[in-house]
Amino acid sequence: MSFRITYSVLDADMTALHAHFDEALAVVRGGLGGEHPSWIAGEAFRSGDLLESRNPARPAELLASVHRTPVGEVARVMRTAKEAQRRWARVPWQERALVLRRAADLISARRFTLAAIMSLEVGKNRLESLGDVEESADLLRYYAGQFEEAQGFVRPMARLSSGESTLSVLRPYGVFVVIAPFNFPLALAAGMSAGALLGGNAVVLKPSEEAPWCAEGLYQALVEAGLPEGVLQVVHGEGETLGAALVDHPEVDGVAFTGSRSVGYGIHARLNAAGIRPCFLELGGKNPAIVCQEADLEDAIEGCFRSAFGLSGQKCSALSRVYVHEDLKRGFLAGLSKKALDVRAGDPSLAETFMGPVINAAAVRRFEQAAAEARREGTVHAGGVRVRPSAELAEGHFVAATVAELEHGHRLMREELFLPFVGVTGFRTLEEALGMANDCAYGLTAGIFSQKAEDVEAFMERAEAGVLYANRRAGATTGAWPGVQAFCGWKGSGSTGKGGCGPYYVAQFMREQSQTRV
Ligand code: SER
Repeated sequence: MSFRITYSVLDADMTALHAHFDEALAVVRGGLGGEHPSWIAGEAFRSGDLLESRNPARPAELLASVHRTPVGEVARVMRTAKEAQRRWARVPWQERALVLRRAADLISARRFTLAAIMSLEVGKNRLESLGDVEESADLLRYYAGQFEEAQGFVRPMARLSSGESTLSVLRPYGVFVVIAPFNFPLALAAGMSAGALLGGNAVVLKPSEEAPWCAEGLYQALVEAGLPEGVLQVVHGEGETLGAALVDHPEVDGVAFTGSRSVGYGIHARLNAAGIRPCFLELGGKNPAIVCQEADLEDAIEGCFRSAFGLSGQKCSALSRVYVHEDLKRGFLAGLSKKALDVRAGDPSLAETFMGPVINAAAVRRFEQAAAEARREGTVHAGGVRVRPSAELAEGHFVAATVAELEHGHRLMREELFLPFVGVTGFRTLEEALGMANDCAYGLTAGIFSQKAEDVEAFMERAEAGVLYANRRAGATTGAWPGVQAFCGWKGSGSTGKGGCGPYYVAQFMREQSQTRV
């Protein structure tokens, strides 16, 4: 399918982009501290039990208070979703696709406001916030395009006898619970919801409790685009309470979740304890890059730097392990450490900031523990400390970009940290490097740097991950885009092997029905 990316922050006029962002930020800042409802049955729902959204760069700053959805409301939410779904499934797919396309255009038109909210709420820098917003819009367009290309997933089949005709038809499951993470608060909420909605399902969306405000932009765009009442409901609360109540509800027909492996496995077990239901999990990674003897060292350093420290390492695609040929190891460590030391974590809403804070105090504690372990059991070449960018940001959740040399078998080379922390190990042969890269419970993204075609081919053939990149200076393991890189987790990184952003995603939200007519 040909798919045109509609907007790229990288090709934009940077002066104009920053001016628009500044303007939007000022407006958003003027409205901080407001109360935001849950959205149930097409109406604003205010429980009075408030979930506070705070700026991770300045935790004293209250951005928004969101009304939690009490667990006691879940039954009404599900009932509403069931009823709305029956009507939505009867809306012709062309109309459903049109609603999504209209919503995509509304999101694009509001890109600066939505990006400013995101930068404040989750600490994403300007370009990455804008990228997230545009990715959301492109996901809606790309998935709508999948429906259009497949003509609504209605396919005539072979005829057994002349008097019979048979269709293969993809039909909705019913109600999907969508549980979104904080790190791509709009794109992942949009992508998972769009997949379900296009297929004629209703969606109950629970945004991350760390980023409840961002998701409101998706709800508003879809409703303004003509999504009927109750087809999408947005509920707010913690995963352990509200999330669990949603997953446990008997009327749920499927779940789409992006987040940690342990939570994902728990959801899968709960959902399927009482029957078999679809459960789409995207569960993070421990993504490796291999830097071969014939690598362009500068490209490798730049690509690894961007993937390890973009969004403070809080991407499921983030680079967290590098296997570098012994002959290049010193130069690589020196180059990557210099870049890590030069990057000064700061206020993500400012034009010059590359790396903002991590999401919360728990992430800082996790960082301090990892850094202490790396100092004890390896060598820390850069970072390893908490950072206070300025007096004004003294309470912010800032940590330094960290490069540590560690043994391959070390805990920090196995467990996902979700931090700006990259471990480096040497190797002698590609065989050895591939063995270490694949020796991992996760399999989301992986990269290689080598000018030798055989190295790249061996990597493409043997790397056990869903998203592979070779010689990518713009990002060794990160930067997948709708319609360009399917984002599919292998092994402990995902449950379906068919990823968001890719050609097989939308079809998963439907079940096949064979219809023979005489
Ligand atoms: N699209 C993002 C990336 O590839 C998802 O994490 O980095």
